[in-house]
Amino acid sequence: MSSVEYSSKNDVAVITLINPPVNAISQGIRAGLIEALDRLAADSTVQSAVLIGAGDTFVAGADIKEFGKPLAPPTTLEALAAMEASSKPIVAALAGNALGGGLEIALACHWRVAVPKVKLGLPEITLGIMPGAGGTQRLPRLVGGAKALDMILSGAPVDGSKGLQLGIVDELVEGDPLEGAIAFARRIVAEKRPLRVTSQLQDKVGNTDPAIFAEARSKNEKKWKGLLSPYKIVEAVEAACTLPFAEGAALELKLYRETQASPQRAALTYMFFAEREASKIPDVPRDLKPAPVKSASVIGAGTMGGGIAMSFANVGVPVKLLEASQDALDKGLARIQGNYATSVARGSISQAQMDQRLALITPTTEYAQIGDADIVVEAVFENMEVKQGVFRTLDGVMKPGAILGTNTSTLDIDQIANVTKRPQEVIGMHFFSPANVMKLVENVRGGKTSPEIIGRTMAVSRQIGKVPVLARNCDGFIGNRVLAVYGRECDFMLEEGATPWQIDRALQGFGFPMGLFLMRDMAGLDVGWRIRAYREQFRDKTLRYSPIGDRICELGRFGQKTGAGYYKYIGRDATPDPEIEALIIKTAADLGIKRREVSDEEIVWRVLSVMANEGAKIVGEGIAIRASDVDVTYVFGYGFPRHQGGPMFWAEQQGLDKVYAKVAGYHAEQGLFWEPAPLLVKAAKSGAKSWKDAAVE
Ligand code: 3HC
Ligand code: NAI
Repeated sequence: MSSVEYSSKNDVAVITLINPPVNAISQGIRAGLIEALDRLAADSTVQSAVLIGAGDTFVAGADIKEFGKPLAPPTTLEALAAMEASSKPIVAALAGNALGGGLEIALACHWRVAVPKVKLGLPEITLGIMPGAGGTQRLPRLVGGAKALDMILSGAPVDGSKGLQLGIVDELVEGDPLEGAIAFARRIVAEKRPLRVTSQLQDKVGNTDPAIFAEARSKNEKKWKGLLSPYKIVEAVEAACTLPFAEGAALELKLYRETQASPQRAALTYMFFAEREASKIPDVPRDLKPAPVKSASVIGAGTMGGGIAMSFANVGVPVKLLEASQDALDKGLARIQGNYATSVARGSISQAQMDQRLALITPTTEYAQIGDADIVVEAVFENMEVKQGVFRTLDGVMKPGAILGTNTSTLDIDQIANVTKRPQEVIGMHFFSPANVMKLVENVRGGKTSPEIIGRTMAVSRQIGKVPVLARNCDGFIGNRVLAVYGRECDFMLEEGATPWQIDRALQGFGFPMGLFLMRDMAGLDVGWRIRAYREQFRDKTLRYSPIGDRICELGRFGQKTGAGYYKYIGRDATPDPEIEALIIKTAADLGIKRREVSDEEIVWRVLSVMANEGAKIVGEGIAIRASDVDVTYVFGYGFPRHQGGPMFWAEQQGLDKVYAKVAGYHAEQGLFWEPAPLLVKAAKSGAKSWKDAAVE
């Protein structure tokens, strides 16, 4: 239930917006606010009002669940117009989150006081929309066009001090925000200050350099490719700086509605909820709220271990980093230092932050040093015996109840867990490279991992700023299992007539930042080649197999690092290589495959439908809890374009029956690899519009 409460503290009215947990702007809030303003106007006992959110937060914006549905009146714009029309000053008391429509409400107040820790922001861009309740018009009037543009385009919040510096906040309060705001309101009245109506301010918009808008468009052309809302935001802020408020606001509303109606909005709001849904594990009690970890250990200071240690240090968790030898430890630490130094050089962290973070990382070669940590993450060589050896030792030294995580990308979690006397405390924590940057952690429950350890591992993943997904133990887990299938399909398309650059261009056209072959070249081709060579003995020789990747490696072309792979390179710049095209043509001829034209549309459809089909198998087998977890994995770990929502969402948008028809067609043509997933068959037969519906029917 949401509502608005009206009360008074002697001469000051207190209007409280109530809609737990984040006070999202529901119909009740909108209507209640207008009613409260009517009462304020009629209440002769008060001279001013404070507007505050219930609980310890202001308002996190429009109710995202209502997007795409008709909104019950009144509109937020009507409520804000009523606020600005008030003859009594209204002061916003800001704490917790004042985001999106929440900040827009605050901007329509006459003044704002805030606690230092408040988060003030317009994150609409992350949802594929733009501020639609005056944010693009009022923020520039308080902070100037350039700063407003930066803030709305980044979507990132600022704290109270920054808000004060920018001009969003009029006063910081250290203690109770309500008391602070009441005192501020009394002062305004006592000083007889004229009402400060944001929409009427002109100085800062008038002084905005008109060149910034064209600059923003051209500077971000690559980053915004295929996106709608950034361009609409620039247009709206430009209007704020050039048109009267009413005209700018009318344009904002028109543009806002366009973004609301776009498929990108649907995909991005889907991702907002998918990301949160991924943390909900059916057998982990919802009320399990684990305490944040206070200390961590990481075993192995290589590529992954170093990045994982940085992830802990970055959020202030002390971490012990253990290596087999002093030499390896020194190398690992040097790499960590180098990574931080690059961040300092780029300006993303300060030297002081780098020093603090480094000080949190304690190098060691002694297991006796690490046993008291709340969590240990193993990131040693990808070798079962080596990992089992490490876990035997960890079993002996780690305190009871510690999370024992392994970063294996291919090995069986149970075989690792079973060498310990506490397999219930062992869990896969599959980070992605570079581990200090990539958001995804695919946590993998073994057969015996306890729900409590799972809940704590999901929580610590979030604590270190990651987006966790839970998988069950299987070859490739969720992400690499899908990758293997879609990589194979791309290899087949090379044989059938495509080129690496055509496939990459088609995938990039869909929105992937990098095509598959460019990605392989960047990661290095030799590791996969060695794995394939080892697995050759087990391979079912009756099934189709593309040897193109092996033939490329046989030429010593291991990707970017050797100057040649699927492409040839000058530094990091890739160019198509006629030698590779010839190799592909020859391979196809050797295999008796007649090459033909493969269209870009076929490439995109084949890649996405094979991904969705494999995803449906993964969900059907219980490897992923739900279809949206596959999407979260792909968006946060594999560069799937977030504004396309992930392969499972893509399939829902196309129609699951249509995707099934394609998959069944390829199955008839190509055989086993395209066998339709039972869940996809079920969806198509039942006419389900979503995977969720298919799963319950
Ligand atoms: N609408 C609907 N539900 C919301 C919501 C919103 N704006 N914001 C959060 N929630 C829900 C979450 O889905 C979650 O629900 P669940 O418990 O059922 O999973 C619950 O509130 C708590 O959210 P979090 O788990 O994210 O809690 P945190 O404390 O980690 O984060 C937060 C709080 C920073 C407010 C974060 O939820 C957030 O970023 N919310 C979205 C903010 C946003 O994008 N606002 C702009 C909306 S668009 C808008 O305002 C348009 C306007 O311009 C007209
Ligand atoms: P790496 O070779 O860069 O690092 C491994 C480190 O472990 C080395 O520094 C080595 O000295 C150390 N080590 C080996 N045996 C040890 C022992 N017994 N005790 C302590 N330290 C020991 O390897 P990388 O790439 O960091 O991989 C580590 C793990 O992460 C592997 O399981 C790998 O499959 C996994 N992984 C790797 C990804 C990648 O992109 N590199 C991505 C995701 C997971």
